[in-house]
Amino acid sequence: MPCSTTKLEEARTYEAREGNAIPADDRPSFHLTPWTGWMNDPNGFCYYQGAYHLFYQYYPYDTVWGPMHWGHAMSTDLLHWTYLPCAIAPDTPADAAGCFSGTAVPTPDGQLILLYTGVQKVGKQDKQTQCLAVGNGTDFVKEAVNPVIDEDQLPAGGSSVDFRDPKIWYEDGQYHCVVSTRDAQDQGRILLYESPDARHWTYRTTLDRCRSEYGMMWECPDFFPLEGRQVLIVSPQEMEATPDGEFHAGYGIVALVGDYDKEQARFTRQWVQTLDSGMDFYAPQSVLTPDGRRVIIGWMQNWANTNDTPRRHRWFGRMSLPRELFLRGDRLCQRPVRELETMWKTTVRRSGVLEGEARYEGLSGRHLDLSLTLDATAQCSGFCLRFAEDGRHHTDIQWDPVKETLALDRSLSGSRRDFVHRREVPVQPREGKLTLRLILDNDCAELFVNDGERVLSAVLETPREADGISLYSEGALPFEMVQHDLA
Ligand code: FRU
Repeated sequence: MPCSTTKLEEARTYEAREGNAIPADDRPSFHLTPWTGWMNDPNGFCYYQGAYHLFYQYYPYDTVWGPMHWGHAMSTDLLHWTYLPCAIAPDTPADAAGCFSGTAVPTPDGQLILLYTGVQKVGKQDKQTQCLAVGNGTDFVKEAVNPVIDEDQLPAGGSSVDFRDPKIWYEDGQYHCVVSTRDAQDQGRILLYESPDARHWTYRTTLDRCRSEYGMMWECPDFFPLEGRQVLIVSPQEMEATPDGEFHAGYGIVALVGDYDKEQARFTRQWVQTLDSGMDFYAPQSVLTPDGRRVIIGWMQNWANTNDTPRRHRWFGRMSLPRELFLRGDRLCQRPVRELETMWKTTVRRSGVLEGEARYEGLSGRHLDLSLTLDATAQCSGFCLRFAEDGRHHTDIQWDPVKETLALDRSLSGSRRDFVHRREVPVQPREGKLTLRLILDNDCAELFVNDGERVLSAVLETPREADGISLYSEGALPFEMVQHDLA
């Protein structure tokens, strides 16, 4: 069915008019926001014909969630994005109640396939199936026979109320996809399907399930090889916090790292960890870059605080900074994409011994890439990096070397809402040092600890004029600092 429907045309006309009227400095500089209206999950993150394409869950007409469309943007450096017209709208029987999350893959003959979840109402219930649209990078035509994976292709016990978020890839001459469902015991399950043509799919196996741990329904699966291991990433609903501080309650992001026997389609987990310990990161999706890097991007928000977050602009929701994934021992780590270095405007290095409070000439701003190396063998009993600071507001990174914990605290960042403002995680020095790298882009803060062993992301409501930065140490603390202001 061609996509030049009224609904799609309406969305395209609306977003071009409303989106272009939003001043550029209402947005962060290099974190993608919706052209206009609402954004949640990243969708269809791919590299196609010389550029990265990123689609997103999109409701153009309001800053709250509504019938899902797919927004679309393109970039050559993963940081500067150009808006493209809305890709798909909920305009066919199989997706009349929404085009939910999914992914994209280039075909061997040069087209781009979108595999997404179509939602339709059956009585009072949602029915979710997997649908296909094919295009050339801007315009997409929905398959006449959608859905391409229907409820009768669910294994016994799988629920078509929760059957969504396909991740598609092409390998060894055929298409593969993983899809989430919830089984009769309310357990999230990741299903593997295979197809010769992306239209006719066969259920192969269940790759993993939550086994009464790691939440209930698992949303937005991703599945890929990395440095000889296999990684399954899921975004569970209804997580329980764990005593070791690895997982917090509510919506989480879980990486299951293990081995994959491709012949037998058998995934064996080796370890399980989170990917972000902050307040605002969910539903990430990855792309393989032409130079072989596995890069993920997430929705920089959390469903738990979404309704309570004030709408300050005519857009709502943003993507995280894209991050390169790598393994270090038994830990899946992340670094900001190296393209960020092309945005370094100035570089200032400082070092010394910190004791009490310190401020430095030129150390301020809300567009920064700031790295600190702290001597963890020193007689320091507490350290704080304070940023987005004015007389009334600030956000803190607090390190307790005695308890070996690190906290991101935005309690005084300007929010008037009583949701989670502080998260604390265990951290251990590496080779006698703790390293912190803070990326600030206006109201987006992302902290990479010990070269990406842990990441904490948070959105701040602090007025942009609050750009002070200060350091504090209880006891003498040798440090090195590198400050890059970002263009
Ligand atoms: C995750 C999610 C997906 C779903 C989409 C709907 O944030 O709930 O499971 O496809 O959002 O917008």
